[in-house]
Amino acid sequence: MFFSERIKAMQTSPIRRLLPYANEAKKAGKKVHHLNIGQPDIKTPDEYFDAVRNFKVETIAYAESQGLVELRDAIVGYYQGWDIPYERDDVYITNGGSEALMFAVMAICNPGDELLTPAPFYANYNAFAQASLAKLVPIPTKAENGFHLPPAETIEKLITPKTRAIWISNPGNPTGVVYTAAELETLASLAKKHDIYLIADEVYREFTYDGQKFHSLGHIKDVLDRVIMVDSVSKRFSACGARVGCIAIKNKEFMGQILKLCQARLCVSTLEQVGATGLYKTAKSYLEDVNKEYKARRDTIYKALKGMDGVVCEEPKGSFYVMVKMPVDDAEKFIIWMLQNYDVNGETTMGAPGAGFYAAGSGLGQNEMRVAYVLKQEDIVKSMNILKGALDVYPGRVEAIKA
Ligand SMILES: Cc1ncc(COP(=O)(O)O)c(C=O)c1O
Repeated sequence: MFFSERIKAMQTSPIRRLLPYANEAKKAGKKVHHLNIGQPDIKTPDEYFDAVRNFKVETIAYAESQGLVELRDAIVGYYQGWDIPYERDDVYITNGGSEALMFAVMAICNPGDELLTPAPFYANYNAFAQASLAKLVPIPTKAENGFHLPPAETIEKLITPKTRAIWISNPGNPTGVVYTAAELETLASLAKKHDIYLIADEVYREFTYDGQKFHSLGHIKDVLDRVIMVDSVSKRFSACGARVGCIAIKNKEFMGQILKLCQARLCVSTLEQVGATGLYKTAKSYLEDVNKEYKARRDTIYKALKGMDGVVCEEPKGSFYVMVKMPVDDAEKFIIWMLQNYDVNGETTMGAPGAGFYAAGSGLGQNEMRVAYVLKQEDIVKSMNILKGALDVYPGRVEAIKA
């Protein structure tokens, strides 16, 4: 049968691809600690469930394609709290941040166009770009520099007539980087100079640690017409299954183009939007408590990883992931081996293979694994003990770690 170039170009998700091995382990009676996926175990606020319960209608109708006005206004209020000056017409609701990212790429890229993004990057950026036959061009970053951006000249050399945007996740998945105001200013001036967009994926905005101040591309007034802001309730309110996000920009022409995509898919689930409107009424203390919990989890996981012989990683400053270099021949083989062969008292653990967080075919990330610290601390401690034990006896262990 025939398949399009775009679907053939797409890769399977490195975050989900190895799940059949986890399912086999579970069938064999093992408990698997899932550190492979950013699915937090934190309770979703009651405001979500209350709003859904109290929504009494006889017919569950389509919502407006742009999203429920109440939700868009609630998000505008939330942005004002962060000094990001959006108004209702600047914000459309999407099926998670994922749909917002897909819409953004579809709206600005022709086949063969290029999108610059710091590598390693969120694995699904590959898929979103490939689905539009666009090309991700990695901006190399190093663990030793905390995955911060290289100098402006290095980034500028990567810009070509086909470049449409610089695309960042801030705070970063999978690196945990939190960009400085100066870095964002650099990106803004490059975007202006070369007349390109900036895609600002800020779904982890609340997740910064050690007193790191969060700076948004939405704070730089003179580029607001080229900053495509992407957001989501998934991580912020631990509501991944609600599938509610948004796309925002101060650019009427851009929103007019995006509206065509919103109208074609009719709307986002009306009921989920009602629940999400409730979420934005959650007390600020919820987000503060969640932040404290993640900081404690970050500290626990980082300490455990640092204590493992041959393991190299940097302390993440934001989001809830850490990229870990391991003394193994191949991280994917190691993860599969662990699911099939290694447990401690019937429990094993699973990370995501690092190669999928780099540009396809780059050969990078072979010995890396992304770990999501989304489980409660006692489970993190157990998972790290399991990982340490597995690394000690893995037949493909190597002595010197590859850079
Ligand atoms: C950096 C980043 N952006 C976007 C998303 C998409 O999230 P959702 O579609 O659940 O809003 C994720 C999910 O893990 C993510 O890590």
